[in-house]
Amino acid sequence: MKGLVLAGGSGSRLRPITHTSAKQLVPVANKPILFYGLEQIRDAGVTEVGIIVGDTGPEIRDAVGDGSAFGLEVTYIPQDAPLGLAHAVLTAEPFLGDDDFVMFLGDNLIEGGIRHVVEAFERDAPAAQLLLKQVPDPHRFGIAELDDDGAIVRLVEKPEDPPSDLALVGVYLFTSAILDAARRIEPSWRGELEITDAIQLLVTEGRPVRASLVEGWWLDTGKKDELLEANRVVLSTVEGRVDGTLAEGSTVTPDVVVEAGARLVRSHVRGPAVIGPGTVLEDVFVGPFTSIAGDCRLERCEVEYSVVMERCHLRDVPRLEGSLLGRDVRIARTERRPAAHRFLLGDHAEVEITEGRV
Ligand code: DAU
Repeated sequence: MKGLVLAGGSGSRLRPITHTSAKQLVPVANKPILFYGLEQIRDAGVTEVGIIVGDTGPEIRDAVGDGSAFGLEVTYIPQDAPLGLAHAVLTAEPFLGDDDFVMFLGDNLIEGGIRHVVEAFERDAPAAQLLLKQVPDPHRFGIAELDDDGAIVRLVEKPEDPPSDLALVGVYLFTSAILDAARRIEPSWRGELEITDAIQLLVTEGRPVRASLVEGWWLDTGKKDELLEANRVVLSTVEGRVDGTLAEGSTVTPDVVVEAGARLVRSHVRGPAVIGPGTVLEDVFVGPFTSIAGDCRLERCEVEYSVVMERCHLRDVPRLEGSLLGRDVRIARTERRPAAHRFLLGDHAEVEITEGRV
């Protein structure tokens, strides 16, 4: 069995972060989303992994390297354009050969790993094995319609009028039959070769396609609110430890990670939260469900329910909440006249202001 991880695509829903960076490398609890999937593939006993990469390929390669840090042998597979998940599978054909494989979407997070699904697939040997999860907003996903016995009747991608609320989770197990099916489908209304259509073809032709429900949480981290929710859920599972320095009366609750080289001065962190290596907090309050990455500097701020990426500088920000800050962001209060907000914002930036209403 091989692994195929999809880390190409454009990430339009996480702009502006993804103007400069791969969406699969946005951190959740200070670890790139992609790393969780790679670790789960390894924990399921799969070591040969192909990673589909697009425009952000160099950044993905820098982060993952040859895979040895994960106990994996990684092969990078460039995809010319993000023409769909089935197109990605076809692009990977020279790597996959005739082998069975587990396909993992690089922006998905799933609780508890995939070992049991891989074992069930190897035991029952269907043509494809899917994971499903009930969702409140089924028009945003691939959706499965099941009969009374739980067998798949129909699969549709992002239906306007969803036949059920069972979404296809971004982890699939396939035999090489999917390659043959992917070659025979047409692009969808959004111009992509949909893996959902290729699996539907297997169903139509009477090939055994199994589905099981995901019991724990499953998070598709495509948008800011989903990313913050993923951060909340994953932080709740993190065990606290203090490897950095707590100075001048600083305190942290037991569910806080303070990485080596981080320094808190007159600051208080109420977890769950993580403070990255080399980060300095002075006169700061950090509230629950916050991840602050490495080499940041915060002075006289309050931050809660937020993800702050590397090397951000925040000064005199009274309260930041529900925010996602990309790398090297600077926010500061100023005495400069005329009193005004002054911004240098990238394309697609979003800012909400509550003070100084006229
Ligand atoms: O998250 C689960 C959903 O993922 C499923 O319910 C849908 O059936 C499935 O089509 C997919 O939908 P999305 O529209 O969310 O897929 P997205 O375009 O976000 O791509 C998923 C991952 O695959 C992401 O890490 C980018 C990567 N990708 C995507 C495309 C279209 C590639 O590597 N190559 C591609 O051509």
